[in-house]
Amino acid sequence: MKELKEYIRSIPDFPEKGIIFRDVTSVLQDADALKLSIDELAKRLEGVDFDVIAGAESRGFIFGAPLAYVMHKPFVPIRKKGKLPCETVEKTYDLEYGTATIEMHKDAVKKGEKVVLLDDLIATGGTMKAAAELVEELGGEVVKMLFLIELSDLNGREVLKDYDVDSVVQFE
Ligand code: PRP
Ligand code: ADE
Repeated sequence: MKELKEYIRSIPDFPEKGIIFRDVTSVLQDADALKLSIDELAKRLEGVDFDVIAGAESRGFIFGAPLAYVMHKPFVPIRKKGKLPCETVEKTYDLEYGTATIEMHKDAVKKGEKVVLLDDLIATGGTMKAAAELVEELGGEVVKMLFLIELSDLNGREVLKDYDVDSVVQFE
């Protein structure tokens, strides 16, 4: 069987010139690769004491919900602004390309709950930093940040240096 990294398709100059887009649809299209990706993420949560997995819209949902299922934990969606129907907290942040605002329901994380944050990819770390601030505003504790893909050159780890960061596949 191929390594997981070999399933990730790289598209130059998307969505803008100079960006190499690391595309996970090619992972999702292959049943073995999809299973391997969830298995590898689950391995990294072995022995971690946590209550809930929170994933960032939208690619964080694709991997976060099956991971929560496998770990038998609840899943919390962190959504782009304007999608959640109840009372929310929100943060605006910068991306590798553009800016975004994310929201969480105020009742999504209870005070003292241990939260694993999950996303498909870390680039600048801006999304995860904003997500962690939301969790902390609600009284939760971020015990781990987990990614399928890490773009090492963008130094997201520096932005997230106060957290336990782990990734399955790294690209320079
Ligand atoms: C992508 C990716 C991460 C984020 C990483 O999401 O899925 O969430 O960017 O970048 P950062 O580390 O610089 O914050 P995007 O906002 O493009 O949304 P999508 O998942 O809906 O495609
Ligand atoms: N999100 C932010 N930067 C990205 C990249 N280079 N490839 C895929 N998703 C991304």
